[in-house]
Amino acid sequence: MPEHILVAVAWPYANGPRHIGHVAGFGVPADIFARYHRLRGNRVLMVSGTDEHGTPITLVADKEGTTPQAIADRYNKIIGDDLYNLGLSYDIFTRTTTSNHYAVTQDIFRTLYERGYIVRRETLGAFSATTGRTLPDRYIEGTCPLCGYDEARGDQCDQCGSQLDPTDLINPRSKVDGQPPIFKPTEHFFLDLPAFAEQLHRWIEQQGHWRPNVRNFSLNFLKDLKPRAITRDLEWGVPIPLPEYANRDDKKIYVWFDAVIGYLSASIEWAHNSGQPDAWREWWQNPGARHFYFMGKDNIVFHTVIWPAMLLGYGAGGHYGATSDERFAGVPLQLPYNVVSSEFLTMEGKKFSSSRGIVIYVNDFLSRYDADALRYFLTIAGPENQDTDFTWAEFVRRNNDELVATWGNLVNRTLTNVYKNFGSVPQPGHLTVADEQVLAEVTDGIETVGNLLATARFKAALSEAMRLAAQVNIYLSEQEPWKVIKSDRDRAATIWYVALRCVDTLKIIFTPFLPFSSQRLHEYLGYDGYIAGPLYFRDITEADGRTHRVLTGDYEQWVGRWEASALPVGQVLRQPQPLFKKLDESVVEEELARMQSRALR
Ligand code: MF3
Ligand code: ZN
Repeated sequence: MPEHILVAVAWPYANGPRHIGHVAGFGVPADIFARYHRLRGNRVLMVSGTDEHGTPITLVADKEGTTPQAIADRYNKIIGDDLYNLGLSYDIFTRTTTSNHYAVTQDIFRTLYERGYIVRRETLGAFSATTGRTLPDRYIEGTCPLCGYDEARGDQCDQCGSQLDPTDLINPRSKVDGQPPIFKPTEHFFLDLPAFAEQLHRWIEQQGHWRPNVRNFSLNFLKDLKPRAITRDLEWGVPIPLPEYANRDDKKIYVWFDAVIGYLSASIEWAHNSGQPDAWREWWQNPGARHFYFMGKDNIVFHTVIWPAMLLGYGAGGHYGATSDERFAGVPLQLPYNVVSSEFLTMEGKKFSSSRGIVIYVNDFLSRYDADALRYFLTIAGPENQDTDFTWAEFVRRNNDELVATWGNLVNRTLTNVYKNFGSVPQPGHLTVADEQVLAEVTDGIETVGNLLATARFKAALSEAMRLAAQVNIYLSEQEPWKVIKSDRDRAATIWYVALRCVDTLKIIFTPFLPFSSQRLHEYLGYDGYIAGPLYFRDITEADGRTHRVLTGDYEQWVGRWEASALPVGQVLRQPQPLFKKLDESVVEEELARMQSRALR
């Protein structure tokens, strides 16, 4: 029975182009996972979009003297293009400024409010000492009360990853003028997190399959659970759905409250766009569905505590939860099954910093290097379990010594030899023990690599795939079919047949990681159709007449299956080309110089 799998990917802020550290943490791992499950024949729904509200956006708009909407429009486009070029196979990558998202957010707010889980409270708001205007969280800096980092922001500490309120900071000061903010009473709405503390505790305790850091960090967070402000004194955001706020433009829903709802609203939009408006319930109100969330470690508690609390409070709804379909009626919305968080990527030993030029943006990277080369590096050497460093030297080394030398070399020598000498898949003779052994070992990879992928151990999965490719290279070096062919063409045909079968199976195993090169290999092997692609954009017009673009794909057309090769004898090959490019060592110096010149600008 195919499983329903929701792949919920963190929503990038639409406040600038994304650098490779961002996509290392959420986009690439989530896509590997989604592609694997689709190849397995499971029903995957992979959702995300740009996160377009809050001070991350207004800050940039203010700096440029333009509107938040203009900023969101610009970067939604750029980020969407990047994700497309990286081959991230979203079912829907949308945005948080759609009317659908507003409606779903407001339904959840209203439902939680009516049930008493959202309460009004007088609180201290931060105001600028010089202008008297509200000071958004991100404009306030101070010392983190938890780790002592002295450049923590009013919304979060980048050192320890804690979520903060401006009033938590020690020695708070405005980033604009350096003055301490003035805290004055203002009314806000609070999510009553303590009401869910016990339920959350019991639930998280049971999640033995979570990565230990995610589970421990979340349990720790529960120890000191306070009601959390979910509105802000800001013009830019989803309006508070209560009559007395209908005409007020100074208080909006907090960006983090609406962003996590995006997972649900995007699923609802996807169903609507595909002409089956209730199809999202198969994932959200189906107790058998499993939800996997992918994000960087600074996002953990939003996904393990705050969003689950909202889901528990909403239960079976609300406007959207209510349904007459008896399969789903009264079934509460599904909680996360796993929250897969990654650590941070640094660049040449330093924190990524756009302002200091220590950065490489995805679009810049892809203008000079292939997406698969980046996907390879980010998976094999990325921040899956610990903070890791991107260096150009290491990128070039891994590309040349691993990707090109092992997998690329195996494919290249096999295809060029067979294409030249046979032109099609040769008829094998009797298989020797060595032939059977290498075939069996690679076939087992379907199982071993699959198990690692299913448990989100991407680095180990890719290492195992590379080990198998290396084994086939060893087999070829021992069998030397290029020599054998001079005296025994039939035996050479058998060896090349075995190698082709191994390459064909490895093609599938590598597809989740390296979708572009696997597609090309698929064609060189003489197959037709899309092994796992392509993606495309669609323009969606909503009832209010506004249009937005979504990234999607037609995954029903995929011919790839997570199975060992059944390559037919006699299938005619196509003229092969190398799958990967060897990089010149000079790339390292060039890129470091580029980084230098950006830093000076
Ligand atoms: N925009 C946030 C960030 O970049 C992530 C939001 S994930 C969401 O840190 F799901 F909550 F939207
Ligand atoms: Zn801290």
